[in-house]
Amino acid sequence: MTAPVLLADEERQRYAAQYAEIATLAGGLAHEIRNPLSTISLNLELLVEDVATGDSARDRRMLRKLQTVQRECGHLETILEDFLRFVRVGELDRAPCDLNEVVREFVEFFQPEAAAAGVEISPHFDSHLPVVELDRTLFRQALFNLARNALQAMPQGGLLELQTAPQDGRVLLTLIDNGVGMSPETLASLFNKVFFSTKPGGTGLGLPTVRRIVEAHRGAVTVDSAPARGTRVTISLPPASRGEPA
Ligand SMILES: Nc1ncnc2c1ncn2[C@@H]1O[C@H](COP(=O)(O)OP(=O)(O)O)[C@@H](O)[C@H]1O
Ligand SMILES: [Mg+2]
Repeated sequence: MTAPVLLADEERQRYAAQYAEIATLAGGLAHEIRNPLSTISLNLELLVEDVATGDSARDRRMLRKLQTVQRECGHLETILEDFLRFVRVGELDRAPCDLNEVVREFVEFFQPEAAAAGVEISPHFDSHLPVVELDRTLFRQALFNLARNALQAMPQGGLLELQTAPQDGRVLLTLIDNGVGMSPETLASLFNKVFFSTKPGGTGLGLPTVRRIVEAHRGAVTVDSAPARGTRVTISLPPASRGEPA
């Protein structure tokens, strides 16, 4: 029997429905794990408090073991949070916006964290940008993931530049840091390996989430990086469509 020939649109819809089903399952599973995990965490905390008051060698050994379990629990919680953020990128709630304003607002929010890490933020806004259509909450999440990575790449402090510019009718947003940069192997693995991270407590879900958010906006992300030089991430977005559905 020959397989029915599906129209491209039907095929896409079928994949989208399958993806939505798997995403719902995976999200549900993450939720189910999260609740008992937070009970475990809470009880561990109480145990640690109890044991920390003892001063025998046995108490100190127990404390070290409990703290190891506590660290691992914390890591699992971070993975679940990042994973839930990743699967939740579904339907967008888009509205026309000025990208400069969105970035300016983000810089204001992120400034204290950057300052505490010794990182100076330097924004350059082009004042002739076409309007873009963004889901502001999701887009802020993408900016946050990128800015966090930049900070983590500059443990001794540094400079984070955020630039907006129009290009061939599209809108570009570039983040440049002068941090540790990436090896060619890291650069090649970024978007290809699931859960790829070079950080001890990393989940490797930050950039895949950024990519999903940007692609859901019909945009594209590119990364250039060189070890010890720094990293440049460029997001390119289409201009808001006039009237016709995006
Ligand atoms: N700005 C950056 N500078 C240097 N390396 C980076 C930068 N952003 C991302 N990376 C590399 O990409 C990897 C994956 O990043 P990400 O998906 O955000 O996961 P995580 O931050 O949890 O490791 C990081 O572990 C790091 O090796
Ligand atoms: Mg990250």
